Amino acid sequence: MKPEEYALMYQVEDHHWWYQGMARITRAVLNRWYQPGASLRILDAGCGTGGAMAAFLRDYGEVTGFDFAEEALAFCRLRRAQRLARASVTEIPFADSSFDLVVSFDVLCERAVRDDLAALREFHRVLFPGGRVLLRLPAYDWLRGRHDTAVHIQHRYTCGEIARRLREAGFRVEHLSYANMFLFPAALVKRTAERLLARQDGPSDLAIGFGPLNGPLAAVLAAEAPLVARGWVPFGLSVVAVGRKPSE
Ligand SMILES: C[S@@+](CC[C@H](N)C(=O)[O-])C[C@H]1O[C@@H](n2cnc3c(N)ncnc32)[C@H](O)[C@@H]1O
Repeated sequence: MKPEEYALMYQVEDHHWWYQGMARITRAVLNRWYQPGASLRILDAGCGTGGAMAAFLRDYGEVTGFDFAEEALAFCRLRRAQRLARASVTEIPFADSSFDLVVSFDVLCERAVRDDLAALREFHRVLFPGGRVLLRLPAYDWLRGRHDTAVHIQHRYTCGEIARRLREAGFRVEHLSYANMFLFPAALVKRTAERLLARQDGPSDLAIGFGPLNGPLAAVLAAEAPLVARGWVPFGLSVVAVGRKPSE
């Protein structure tokens, strides 16, 4: 990501509608298998500035985060995150079978991840047999826009693609859904306009101030949580997937 995007992410991730809505969706998906108060060993792969760890992951157990960017880890430290490492998803500095759950939100899509399958194989390696990986990734490569350029997204996925990758890495696919369907038409219009006007440079969408619309937008996105948890959202701006490492 561009260095200035880390500061922006840190500033907005506690209140921006997208993070609030996605936190509700992610909790709903996690709650299919785990309950808040569980004592899971959780790895947040590509933890960014630590928002997910602070907002909800720590409710499910002991969270370790890693990211390859020192800028990101510095912001995690401001949140008093203790278990942190600087590393790449393709070379995770933890022993085989160390975690119950690996989560990775909007990371495998990044330009700096040269080989997403190698990263998934690393997630598989560090999970206990029977452990799960929860992925969220941007959807549909044809939707690429200015935001993707700013945060160095090199690829947007489909559900089918993620399922294939998970299987190739040795996971059984337990859950697949799109998310952020209700706001899809607005995003489609915005990204088409950017393309027509050749506006591909500039800050990410996180720089947009939504003012009084922030609350209603968060509510609209959060309303999808039960649908995503059931795998019922047929299209959207993100893909959510869960894979399980088979028990021995
Ligand atoms: C869009 S941000 C998402 C951050 C966080 N997961 C979240 O949901 O807010 C992508 C993150 O992936 C990190 N990243 C990119 N390539 C990476 C790699 N090869 N290994 C580890 N982290 C990486 C970036 O530094 C950035 O923090």
